[in-house]
Amino acid sequence: MNVLINEGRLQKRIDELAKQIEQDYQGEEILFVGILKGCIPFYWELAKRIKNPIEFEFIEVSSYEGTESTGKIQINKDISNKIEGKHVLIVEDIIDTGRTLTALKELIEQKGVKDLKIATLLSKPSRRIMELEVEYIGFKIEDKFVVGFGLDYNQKYRNLPYIGYIE
Ligand code: IMP
Ligand code: MG
Repeated sequence: MNVLINEGRLQKRIDELAKQIEQDYQGEEILFVGILKGCIPFYWELAKRIKNPIEFEFIEVSSYEGTESTGKIQINKDISNKIEGKHVLIVEDIIDTGRTLTALKELIEQKGVKDLKIATLLSKPSRRIMELEVEYIGFKIEDKFVVGFGLDYNQKYRNLPYIGYIE
């Protein structure tokens, strides 16, 4: 396993994102909607650095098999409480083609939220198929399949504390 982004760089960048989010939301309550399972390490590292009140929600969708997203999303686990009228922040591990988040964004917007923003730890801009506005991006990376810090390859490597790739 090769290290692409080490623990120190991840923590430092998440610090910066947290500060930016605090500034943007001005003490307002934020409802975090994490996309399971990949969001988990980033979700917690981000949430614990933000002083605003944060509500925790999660959604699990599948859109991905092997290394390519299919475009259709299926909801395996839906958000459990009403999110109407809330400031929603979607928390994701990585945006690749943008298909998953485009579909999910539309779905969440239909629930009548006050506003909706996106925070992703990683983004692969060269792979984007769907144009998508993303407010908070941790790192833009080249077109490489990465694992660790929540990201998996066939459900493995999620628990690595860094972002790595296999040659
Ligand atoms: P998209 O719909 O193509 O943007 O795919 C987004 C989803 O694909 C992410 O939530 C990840 O679960 C998965 N994904 C995309 N690229 C990678 C990668 O390099 N490693 C692991 N998972 C990835
Ligand atoms: Mg994902």
